Amino acid sequence: MTFPYTRMRRMRKNDFSRRLMRENRLTADDLIYPMFIIEGENVRETVASMPGIERVSIDLLLKEAQELVDLGIPMVALFPVVSAEKKSLMAEESYNPNGLAQRAVRALKEAFPELGVMTDVALDPFTTHGQDGIIDDSGYVLNDTTIEVLVKQALSHAKAGADVIAPSDMMDGRIGEIREELEAENFTNTMIMAYSAKYASAYYGPFRDAVGSSGNLGKSNKSTYQMDPANSDEAIREVLLDLDEGADMVMVKPGMPYLDLVRRVKHELEVPTFVYQVSGEYAMHMAAFQNGWLDKDSIIMESLLAFKRAGADGILSYFAKDAARILKAQS
Ligand code: PBG
Repeated sequence: MTFPYTRMRRMRKNDFSRRLMRENRLTADDLIYPMFIIEGENVRETVASMPGIERVSIDLLLKEAQELVDLGIPMVALFPVVSAEKKSLMAEESYNPNGLAQRAVRALKEAFPELGVMTDVALDPFTTHGQDGIIDDSGYVLNDTTIEVLVKQALSHAKAGADVIAPSDMMDGRIGEIREELEAENFTNTMIMAYSAKYASAYYGPFRDAVGSSGNLGKSNKSTYQMDPANSDEAIREVLLDLDEGADMVMVKPGMPYLDLVRRVKHELEVPTFVYQVSGEYAMHMAAFQNGWLDKDSIIMESLLAFKRAGADGILSYFAKDAARILKAQS
């Protein structure tokens, strides 16, 4: 019997050597916290399929923002929940300068100028049918007509003070059109994070409950514009197009089931790469935590670290606050 000279366990024996050889680290700097906003004052609503996540009115959003700043989280992503009477076929409410998202951005930037604010550019909270764009008589989402509205929406967010505009709609060519408008209107430093490799995923279910679009969407899906989960090369093309059109950052979404794409985008293209650990991933983790099947804190940290290992520069996660709290307690 010959014993090994190379013993991988040697370096693992002590905490100091494990720390020394650690390749990836998660910090609060990596995190973006998605938040759902509703009208009213001192209003908070729970979301059944997302335990622990609430829809909050702007005053409560500001209170929570203080907590996020204290935890060192660099940016929030805002998602408005729009009441039925404000929804329409042409989604006019999406670019209302005094709409919920626009008011929330203004309030946040005024109270916390150092906190990054990112906004969602897509029409699903504002359409009566829950699709991300304007539809024709057959229900097909019209690309170029939709872009005209998205450009207005993006500009209204920039005017409100949004730092990062994040088109999540998957129309072809929208990054270029939005960039052109931002430049023309002198918002030269307003960044764009493109939801580039966004898959037609059933993992978005709880999010659609949270923003109240699932009922309107019914049994229809978004497969005519979001990507086929079977494809990988197509994601690289999507990312390249968005970069060419002026995206500053790109995103892969969902997260854990699509780690291979995070890896490919970061390593093949070497650009700022973000990943969204989406609502369905949050929901299934929470279900296991609540049943005592998985240990909450360890799993949160392990799942987020996996994104870093795959190559993500930043992570949108409903666990951002929990993770930042855990990191703070460890330091
Ligand atoms: C809207 C949008 C969605 C998400 C972010 N922006 C849902 C969708 O495309 O249906 C999903 C986020 C999540 O599931 O957490 N365009």
